[in-house]
Amino acid sequence: MTATAAAQHTDASTLAGRRVLVKVPATSANLGPGFDTLGLALARYDELEVSVPDASADAPGLEIEVHGVGEGEVPLDERHLVVRAIAHTFARAGVPMPALKLVAHNVIPHGRGLGSSGAAIVAGVVAAKGLLEGIVDFSADELLDLATELEGHPDNVAPALFGGLTIAWVTPEGPRHKKLMVHRGVSPLVLVPEHEMSTALARSLQPESVPHEDAVFNVSRSALLVAALIQSPELLFQATEDKLHQHYRAAAMPETDRLIRVLREAGHPAVVSGAGPSILVLASDPSERAAAIAIVEASADTAWQALPLAVDFKGATVQSA
Ligand code: HSE
Repeated sequence: MTATAAAQHTDASTLAGRRVLVKVPATSANLGPGFDTLGLALARYDELEVSVPDASADAPGLEIEVHGVGEGEVPLDERHLVVRAIAHTFARAGVPMPALKLVAHNVIPHGRGLGSSGAAIVAGVVAAKGLLEGIVDFSADELLDLATELEGHPDNVAPALFGGLTIAWVTPEGPRHKKLMVHRGVSPLVLVPEHEMSTALARSLQPESVPHEDAVFNVSRSALLVAALIQSPELLFQATEDKLHQHYRAAAMPETDRLIRVLREAGHPAVVSGAGPSILVLASDPSERAAAIAIVEASADTAWQALPLAVDFKGATVQSA
């Protein structure tokens, strides 16, 4: 982190009147075999406006409006995840947290395995970066580190920050990432059920250790998956096999497990999206995606919202307004 000389003297009055617009994509993590490692940014965006009221205004210390997903449900105080991420980033920068007004327009479903918490955290981190522009500079590694500290693992926050397909790994110096472009044939389809799934519950179902042969199985498939996504989409079906997490969690999301089996039996590369319960189908072209939607409509016994989504290649954006 590079702080200018001004950082030491930055207080609420320095930041008064600053306003940023933030846009953060949904993400799908794991992608089958790449548990806690691979992630894909998807073109569905939460948008936020974050401003520091004028010092003269008789404004409350914190004012939050949430529209769309989460409206009437998420806390409208300092427990709000975006605000926590802003506070975390200001603390790291050593700058006192100013009064804030936050207006969120959310479309990423909550608790469905589409990275809504990662998106909220990334929104807060990049909003803080935008508010501190010219005062403190953050490197890409520092942004990823700040977001991962709050999220716990980097596989959703890396694609939310940087876009595209991301490989994320953890080093003693913090998390790191490599962003890759995806083959233009790849046509993601997300299937969203009406019910939610807790990531904490899903993670509690994982065993402490796994058989060596299962680890080897996933090493081979996740290496293959990177090649399939960037170069050889025809390999996506084999490349999305997994033995590390999905079957351990299946009993907690039986409808998801059942529909994935139906789709895979028909040859579609379907996997649990993140910790579930949504499903990600990594179709290799738009016609395969349409065929997968037809199967869902014909065979699902519960309601699934089918979202054909493009891959997002930009990641989170922040602009001063
Ligand atoms: N890799 C994570 C998991 C993604 O599957 O638990 C959800 O946060």
